[in-house]
Amino acid sequence: MTLTVLFSARPALWDDYRTVLPAALSAEGIAARLVRMADPAEVDYIVYAPNDDLTDFAPFTRAKAVLSLFAGVERIVGNPTLTQPLCRMVDPALCEGMVEWVTAQVLRHHLWLDRNIGRRAWVQEAPPLARDRRVTMLGLGELGLAAARMLRALNFRVTGWSRSPKTDAGFPTFHGEDGLKPALEGAEIVVTLLPDTPATRGILDARSLGWLAPGAAVINPGRGPLIEDAALLAALDAGQVGHATLDVFHTEPLPPEHPFWARADVTVSPHIAAVSRPATAATVIAANIRRAEAGETLLHRVDRARGY
Ligand SMILES: NC(=O)c1ccc[n+]([C@@H]2O[C@H](COP(=O)([O-])OP(=O)(O)OC[C@H]3O[C@@H](n4cnc5c(N)ncnc54)[C@H](OP(=O)(O)O)[C@@H]3O)[C@@H](O)[C@H]2O)c1
Repeated sequence: MTLTVLFSARPALWDDYRTVLPAALSAEGIAARLVRMADPAEVDYIVYAPNDDLTDFAPFTRAKAVLSLFAGVERIVGNPTLTQPLCRMVDPALCEGMVEWVTAQVLRHHLWLDRNIGRRAWVQEAPPLARDRRVTMLGLGELGLAAARMLRALNFRVTGWSRSPKTDAGFPTFHGEDGLKPALEGAEIVVTLLPDTPATRGILDARSLGWLAPGAAVINPGRGPLIEDAALLAALDAGQVGHATLDVFHTEPLPPEHPFWARADVTVSPHIAAVSRPATAATVIAANIRRAEAGETLLHRVDRARGY
C-alpha cells in the first residue's frame, strides 16, 4: 500500500524536504507519496511545522501520527483538535548544532572574550580555569544533557536541573521545584534548555535571578517565555546579571522597539542556535513511520499532560 504523507509546514521548508524525505522513506522500505495538499480523510501521516494552513486536525481521521519537524512543540501541543499521537523532532544533527552553540557561548563568557577581543591595550587579565567556573544547565533532555556533558568534558563545574531525577548525568543534578534554588545558587553562567510549558514559563524571574552569582551570564537557547523580560532587564540594570545572550524571545522576530536591541549587555541572536537538518531529520521521520507501520511504539512521543 502506498501511504499518503502530508507535508504541512511553511513553504520555504518544502524545498528542503521534497527530495530527502521521499528518499529516506524509500530507504526504510516505505512506499509513500509526499504531498502538500490532500483530502484529509486520506492522509496517513502529517509531517508538521507550525504554519497557519493547518490548525484543525479533526478531519484527519486516518492519520496515525503527527510528526513535528521542530524540537519545541508548544504551538501545537495544546491544540484541542489534535487527537493523533504527536512526536517531536530529536535530530542528532540539531543536537550537535546546539552543543556547538552552547559551548561557544559559555566559552565566550567564561574567557571574557567580548571584553578582550578588539581591546587595543596591554591588559593582562587572565580568566579562571573552567574547573573554577560554575555553570548551571536548566533542562537535561536531549539537548541540555548533551551540552552539559560537553561542558563537563571541558572541566566546567556543571550542575543540572530537570523535572525528574537523573542518576547518571556525570555531574551533580537537582530536580523539581525544590531543586531549582540549589541548582542556581552561585551559578556564574546559566543555560536554559527547557521546553515552554505552563510549569517552566517565567522560571527565570526576579527571585531566581537573585540566586545567581552577581554578574552572572544568562544564555537562553530554549524558549523566550522561560525568562521574565522585565525581571531580566532589572537584574541587568542592577548588575546581578552581567550579560544575557538570548536566541529566543516572547515575540519573534524580536520587535524593533524591544529594549534588548539597544543594550550592550544583551546579545540578540535570531533563533538560530540549532535547526533541524533536513538530511538527518528526514531519516528520523522516516524511521518513525516505519515503526508505526510495523506496529512498534513511536519514538519521541510528546506527553500532552506535561506539554513536552
Ligand atoms: N533555539 C533553538 O534553535 C532551539 C532548537 C531546538 C530546541 N530548542 C528548545 O530546546 C528545548 C529543549 O529541547 P530538548 O530536545 O532537550 O527537550 P527534551 O528532551 O524534552 O528535554 C526537556 C528537559 O527539560 C526538563 N523539564 C521540562 N519541564 C520541566 C520542569 N517543569 N521542571 C524542570 N525541568 C523540566 C525535562 O525534564 P525531564 O528530563 O525530567 O523530563 C528535560 O530534562 C525545546 O523544547 C525547544 O524549546 C531551541
